[in-house]
Amino acid sequence: MSIKILGIESSCDETAAAVVEDGRVVLSNVISSQIDIHTLYGGVVPEIASRKHVERISQVVEGALKDAGCTLADIDAIAVTYGPGLVGPLLVGVSYAKALSYTSKIPLVPVHHIEGHICANFIENPELKPPFLCLVVSGGHTHLVMVKDYRDYEVLGRTRDDAAGEAFDKVARAIGLGYPGGPKIEKAAREGNEDAITFPRAKVEGSVYDFSFSGMKSAALNYLNSCQMQNIPVVQEDVAACFQRAVTDVLCDRASAAIDEYKPTAFAIAGGVASNGALRAKMKDMCDRKGIPFYNPSPIFCTDNGAMIGAAGYHEFMAGNIAGLDLNATPALKLGEH
Ligand code: KG4
Ligand code: ZN
Repeated sequence: MSIKILGIESSCDETAAAVVEDGRVVLSNVISSQIDIHTLYGGVVPEIASRKHVERISQVVEGALKDAGCTLADIDAIAVTYGPGLVGPLLVGVSYAKALSYTSKIPLVPVHHIEGHICANFIENPELKPPFLCLVVSGGHTHLVMVKDYRDYEVLGRTRDDAAGEAFDKVARAIGLGYPGGPKIEKAAREGNEDAITFPRAKVEGSVYDFSFSGMKSAALNYLNSCQMQNIPVVQEDVAACFQRAVTDVLCDRASAAIDEYKPTAFAIAGGVASNGALRAKMKDMCDRKGIPFYNPSPIFCTDNGAMIGAAGYHEFMAGNIAGLDLNATPALKLGEH
């Protein structure tokens, strides 16, 4: 018999819900993005995000059930992101899921947002099973994770400062591309010369697998300042191409070193930045050369969505990880804490 999980996600600026069967088959996936609103402010405003989640969450959840041809009676568990993320937005999803679980008597399953991103890889790749190595790159996280088993993660490296997506967003804003920066940088980069400017590729002392993007971001901002002082016109496309190249080089370099040391049988990427075509091409190329399979979710499953929470929620549910009504939003939740 199949297990159907309703996944709910509201940790940042997407209100999302989905119905997922057995952790892999997506029956519906509804995403209400707030990007147009936050674009006006150049980034996510947490208070506005919370209010928009409150306005939209019922329709999104009802839409996910309807699209899947389900009612609550068909759902085995309600999985919800309870961290990490913005506390206000997280609380909306958690409170909604708790209320739904209480009134419908359907078990409530707590899901870690990064675990959700990793599990997005199971959706379109039925053959993918742990163990494998996964690079999670999003607006809030840059983690190199050994997925030893379902629910069993070892973080090999993480960013010491900015996340990769955050760096894209900040540089995009500085060159006037607006929010969210990642997709805009990718588009502009296609028209740019990636050899025009050299940005530093910072190594982090102490850990081979840690990342640092704030130095790279500052180098880009310094370059823009010096152009302005000397009245040199800035070619947006060149800055985008060179910055994207620098970020993707560093991500690829660390992943390559970890593959050489840990010798995983597969490598996957996940998170919003994983929808970047240049990053995907570079990683695929690297894995081809090493002779290991490379996986990435379709872009719609890279950026925040409910399907990834339904996929991760399946494994939590099967392991008996059921939350009580005291479940709380946990903004700084660590990966691997159940
Ligand atoms: O996973 P996600 O939707 O939310 C977080 O958990 O943070 O990731 C959003 C991040 C943003 O920083 C956005 O600029 C970045 O992912 N992003 C991209 C692309 N699409 C989204 N970065 C680079 N290239 C893209 N195509
Ligand atoms: Zn995310």
